[in-house]
Amino acid sequence: MTELASAQRAVEPHDVVDLITAKRFGRALATDEIEWAVDAFTRGAVAPEQMSALLMAIVIQGMERDEIRSLTAAMIASGERMDFTGLGRPAIDKHSTGGVGDKITLPLVPLLASLGVAVPQLSGRGLGHTGGTLDKLESIAGWQAALSNDEMLRMLTDVGGVICAAGSGLAPADRKMYALRDVTGTVAAVPLIASSIMSKKIAEGAGGLVLDVKFGSGAFLPDVADARELATTMVRLGEDSGLRTVALLTDMDTPLGRAVGNANEVRESVEVLAGGGPADVVELTLALAREMLDLAGMPDVDPAPALADGRAMDAWRALIAGQGGDPDAPLPAAQEQHVVRAEADGVVQRVDARAVGVGAWRLGAGRARPGDPVDHAAGVEVLVRPGDRVSAGDPLFIAACDNAGRLARGLESLGAAVELGASAPPVRPLIAGRIAIDD
Ligand code: URA
Repeated sequence: MTELASAQRAVEPHDVVDLITAKRFGRALATDEIEWAVDAFTRGAVAPEQMSALLMAIVIQGMERDEIRSLTAAMIASGERMDFTGLGRPAIDKHSTGGVGDKITLPLVPLLASLGVAVPQLSGRGLGHTGGTLDKLESIAGWQAALSNDEMLRMLTDVGGVICAAGSGLAPADRKMYALRDVTGTVAAVPLIASSIMSKKIAEGAGGLVLDVKFGSGAFLPDVADARELATTMVRLGEDSGLRTVALLTDMDTPLGRAVGNANEVRESVEVLAGGGPADVVELTLALAREMLDLAGMPDVDPAPALADGRAMDAWRALIAGQGGDPDAPLPAAQEQHVVRAEADGVVQRVDARAVGVGAWRLGAGRARPGDPVDHAAGVEVLVRPGDRVSAGDPLFIAACDNAGRLARGLESLGAAVELGASAPPVRPLIAGRIAIDD
C-alpha cells in the first residue's frame, strides 16, 4: 500500500471487512456503519469486490427494518432531491416492479394528466425478459427520453406529465450498487430491491406514490409471499419518510394485454387511450389511476370517462409532442412474421409470461447487456388467454422481428409457453391485494 493510500485508510471510521464479517454472521448493522459503507463505496474507498461481499451477506442474512431504512436514507443522501411542490397541482408517482407486456405507464400518465394530477415518471430501459418504458416510447419517431430538470418541470407545468430517463444525479449510490448487483447474483433480495427502488422514488420528491408489485413467472419475485413482503417493505419505507405510499399486488403469470415488445405495446396503449384495448390493460390502468387520484385528494373522480371521451388521448398527443415525438408517425413494422400454432386440442391452462418475455427478448425486443440496441419492431402478439379452447392448428402467437436469424430461438421459447389441459383452469384475479399503512 502506498503512503497516501494508507493515510487515507487511517482516517476511515470503519473497516469494511469488519462489516462484511458482522453481516455474514447475522449482526444488524448500525446506521453509521451503513451510511459509511454506502458513502465509502460511492467515493471509491470501498472496493467493488468488498461491496459485492457485503451485498451477498445481506442477500443471505437479510436486514432488519431499521437497517433497510438506513440503507435507503444513505442512498438518497448520495445525490440530489427533486421538488414538485410549486406545480400548482398534486404530483403523484407510480412505479411497477416490471413485467411482460407491462405498458401501463403509457396510458396511465396522460390519463392522470388529463384529470389534473401531475405525474413525474422517471423510467428505465428493459434488461433481460422484462421490457422498459423508454425503449417502447423510442419506437415513436423523434421522441426524446433525456430531459434536463428544467425541461422536465416545463412538461409537468405545460402538459401535466412527463416520462423520461432518470438523471444521474438521483441516488448515484444506488446506480453504482445496482450495476454491481446485476453481475454478482445479488439483485433478488427484498431489502436491496426495496431500498434501491424507494431511494429513487423518495429522492424524486412526489407527494404520493402508487406501487404495482408483480408476482408470477414474469416478475422479479415470482412468489406471491415474497412480492407481498417487498410491497409491505416499500410502503413502510415511503410512509416512514413522509411519502404517502400504496401498493397493489398484481398477477404477472400471464403477459399483460396482447402485445409484448416495443412498437406493438405503443400501438396497444393508443387503443386503450382511444377507449378500447384489452380488458386487463384497461382494468389495471383504471385501478392504478384510482389509487393515484385518491392520494392526490381526488377520491371521487372517476378516471374511466377520460379514456372514453378523448381527454386522455389529447394529453397523450401533447405528452409525445412535448418531447419531440410525432404522435401521427407510423410505428415501425417488422419484416418477418411467423405464426405459432397449437399442436393439439385443449383448453389453455397457462400462457407463461416468462417464456413469452424471453421469446420477445430473443426476437430482438430486449437487450442482453446495458447499451445494446433494441429492435423496436420485434415482439410477440399473444392471441390466447387462460380458459380459451383451442383446436390443433389454431394460432397462439405471432412472432415478429427484423432479423430472420433470431426467429428460431424466439420460437423455441414461445413453443413452450402455452400449457393445454382438458378443462378450464381456476380464474386468477389480476389484482390480488392492496397494501397500505392503514390496512
Ligand atoms: N429496480 C430497481 O430500481 N432496483 C432493484 O433492485 C430492482 C428493480
